[in-house]
Amino acid sequence: MAKNLNKNLHSAKTNKKDEFYTQLADIENELKHYKDHFRGKTVFCNCDDPRVSNFFHYFSHRFESLGLKKLIATCYKNQDVDLFSTHESEKAVMLVYEGDKNGDRVPSAEEIGVTPLQGDGDFRSAESIALLKEADIVVTNPPFSLFREYVAQLMEYDKKFLIVGSMNAITYKEIFTLIKENKLWLGYGFAAGNAYFKTPHEKEFATGVYNPETGLVKFRNVHWFTNLDHSKRHEDLDLYKTYTPEEYPKYDNYDAIEVSKTKEIPADYAGAMGVPITFLDKYNPDQFEIVGMSASAGYNAEIVGLPFLGEKDARPLLNGKNTYARVFIKNKKLQGGEAGAQSQEP
Ligand SMILES: C[S@@+](CC[C@H](N)C(=O)[O-])C[C@H]1O[C@@H](n2cnc3c(N)ncnc32)[C@H](O)[C@@H]1O
Repeated sequence: MAKNLNKNLHSAKTNKKDEFYTQLADIENELKHYKDHFRGKTVFCNCDDPRVSNFFHYFSHRFESLGLKKLIATCYKNQDVDLFSTHESEKAVMLVYEGDKNGDRVPSAEEIGVTPLQGDGDFRSAESIALLKEADIVVTNPPFSLFREYVAQLMEYDKKFLIVGSMNAITYKEIFTLIKENKLWLGYGFAAGNAYFKTPHEKEFATGVYNPETGLVKFRNVHWFTNLDHSKRHEDLDLYKTYTPEEYPKYDNYDAIEVSKTKEIPADYAGAMGVPITFLDKYNPDQFEIVGMSASAGYNAEIVGLPFLGEKDARPLLNGKNTYARVFIKNKKLQGGEAGAQSQEP
């Protein structure tokens, strides 16, 4: 499956085929945890063709119950019309919805303002940025291939957001730095960690990844990224294991112990611990501090967050053998006090 997954992401990158449409049920499942954030707010879906975007559908149909002020969606008109059948010769447009006017409680065509855009609807265009400035919260599934740039723009304009992205993005230096600084975190996530998207590019995918009956393509490492607070983020991870040097060996090249499963984080270890990246799905900033991350052979002190005690390979090594990418964390509740001092190995 990992092989198929890589193939998916690779093809998304190299061919710039970013046409994966989010399902309404997935949007509903995630958005139900953030309802309080939306009252009186302007929502902008800036990578959304309203003809196919369930984000537009979701917000227009829940406009009143969420208490929205305004909904804006813009769609991207790709230059390469041959590649994007759904975008053929159509102009990029902007849609604005400001709530039900005729009392039927559903968004009807005459209530939705449609304005052609002058440019191609690129989220980086001046037109789109002007709308971004007006918006309070951006909610969408942006192109995977431009994720880094997309997040940088949200940060530049200091926007609240809830967006879909690949878990691979966590290992990007820029994204990880935001995670470490608690400026961006994971949302609730997709059911059982699997995301299914509609795609017009079904021929690109291996059997088992694309289901011709449902028309859906499966991704296993996709998540929601946000800076909207939610309750899961404040739930303590239940720690039931006790530290022993045998069960939790130290890396050759870092003063940190290897914890290969998030649920096995020892309750009584105050020093640095290397955990899988999926730990971030359970991360509560009141319980743990993120010290850094090691995912590649080159050492970057700012990202790794721990002094490098090795010679060359900066990936976390155990007896010369590479482990997977690791996030380094410390248990906040054991810092500074007596418990922390006692729990350290001699
Ligand atoms: C992963 S798809 C998701 C579409 C939609 N947001 C959804 O969730 O169903 C990303 C969308 O971004 C559009 N896109 C690609 N490059 C873009 C850009 N530079 N600016 C705005 N949209 C872009 C693609 O055409 C594609 O429809």
